[in-house]
Amino acid sequence: MTPEEFRKQGHRLIDWVADYRAGIAARPVMAPAKPGAIRAQLPKAPPENPEPFETIFADIDRLIAPGISHFQHPRFFGYFPANSDLASVLGDYLSTGLGVIGLSWQSSPALTELEEVMTDWVRQMIGLGDGWHGVIQDTASTSTLVALISAREKISNYALAKDGLQGESAPLIVYVSGHAHSSVDKAATLAGFGAGNIRHVAVDADFAMQPEALRAAIEADRKTGLKPCAIVASVGTTTTTAVDPLQPIGAIAKEFGLWLHVDAAMAGSAMILPECRWMFEGIEAADSLILNPHKWLGAAFDCSTYFVQDPEHLIRVMSTNPSYLQTSVDGAVTNYRDWGIPLGRRFRALKLWFLLRSSGTAALQARLRRDIANARWLAEEVTKTPDWRVLAPIHLQTVCIRHEPSGLQGEALDRHTLAWADAINQSGGAYVTPATLDGRWMVRVSIGAIPTEREDVAALWQLAQDSARS
Ligand SMILES: Cc1ncc(COP(=O)(O)O)c(C=O)c1O
Repeated sequence: MTPEEFRKQGHRLIDWVADYRAGIAARPVMAPAKPGAIRAQLPKAPPENPEPFETIFADIDRLIAPGISHFQHPRFFGYFPANSDLASVLGDYLSTGLGVIGLSWQSSPALTELEEVMTDWVRQMIGLGDGWHGVIQDTASTSTLVALISAREKISNYALAKDGLQGESAPLIVYVSGHAHSSVDKAATLAGFGAGNIRHVAVDADFAMQPEALRAAIEADRKTGLKPCAIVASVGTTTTTAVDPLQPIGAIAKEFGLWLHVDAAMAGSAMILPECRWMFEGIEAADSLILNPHKWLGAAFDCSTYFVQDPEHLIRVMSTNPSYLQTSVDGAVTNYRDWGIPLGRRFRALKLWFLLRSSGTAALQARLRRDIANARWLAEEVTKTPDWRVLAPIHLQTVCIRHEPSGLQGEALDRHTLAWADAINQSGGAYVTPATLDGRWMVRVSIGAIPTEREDVAALWQLAQDSARS
């Protein structure tokens, strides 16, 4: 494609996206597609000859737009807020348009230095001390994997450089909350700990990790000759936004010499609000921290900020230095390839830069406060309605609810819950994701899409009541 042709089609694409966002409220939130229906309409083999952009654009309307669930819809209450602010989208376009890859500082100095500054801006916004250093990874899953590999290396005195885990005299153990995100178990397994060496620590009535149970598990493992290695604490669990208490957990980590990683993938964005910072009390005892600006904050996916207190340790574990990547300034610059798994890195800092500059902290704070107020409003409505229950504290923007008509229990109650959630989703009027809590299904209403206002939450609440009645 020539630059002139790109200009023409690019304008058209921007217009398409702008129209899509402007008219998104009129679309059914969940894709009405049946499994395989989209694939069946696509050619099985690539085209031999060029196709005009006319037909490509026509297929976006015909196949793609009806085949997606609309995360940016004002009535999207599923999973977690996955906001892609349009300013951030422009930053992402620019990154792709520039087409540069961060292999080393020299391969794209602005890519590295903007990333250094952006992660430092985020650090300041969330109230972390200046001893923390950040890097942008693709997802929280990757970052937690990096954290657990780092933990493993620290405690095993850098086993990778010797016999790897085969050289260890005793299995290394990881401690996570029973409510930790599945990515934490996955990271521990991929990092070689083995599923049998992950301890799921008991939670309290608010679904937060119990420090006494953590201590008991560590002591029990030590007694049997096992080697405690790392703790992963969650600030804002996926199911209920539970907050593991960092202060006592950090003290235990220090006492036993364990790595403490904090998963604040979703809730971390809320640390830009001083009134929410209680959730981070004790964070200075952690070794690493992940939060996803690509969730509630508004950076276009993928943009996950990973912070560590000691980058030298990270570099020691992750560094590779083949001759073709060495440069004369290596000692004076950051080479982010040594801060994570991939060698090639996208220019992700641009989408954060565009978001933070075009919004400013005050507007981001106002939006998050709006969402928290909407969650509290919904929780009050649910609480005062007969047969409805709020099942977990409202720390932020997630409201866990269940309709419990008298006489309905056990599996019959589960069937009822899944049926009314499905009815909401099939209606196209809103989108929610059910999940299990204490072994029973409930519905998570995750508020926080950028265009979601009180009237959208009220409409969802009405839809829930209508769906549960019918
Ligand atoms: C608490 C928590 N941790 C980790 C993740 C995984 O996020 P990612 O998709 O960035 O790997 C999620 C996603 O829902 C989450 O809520």
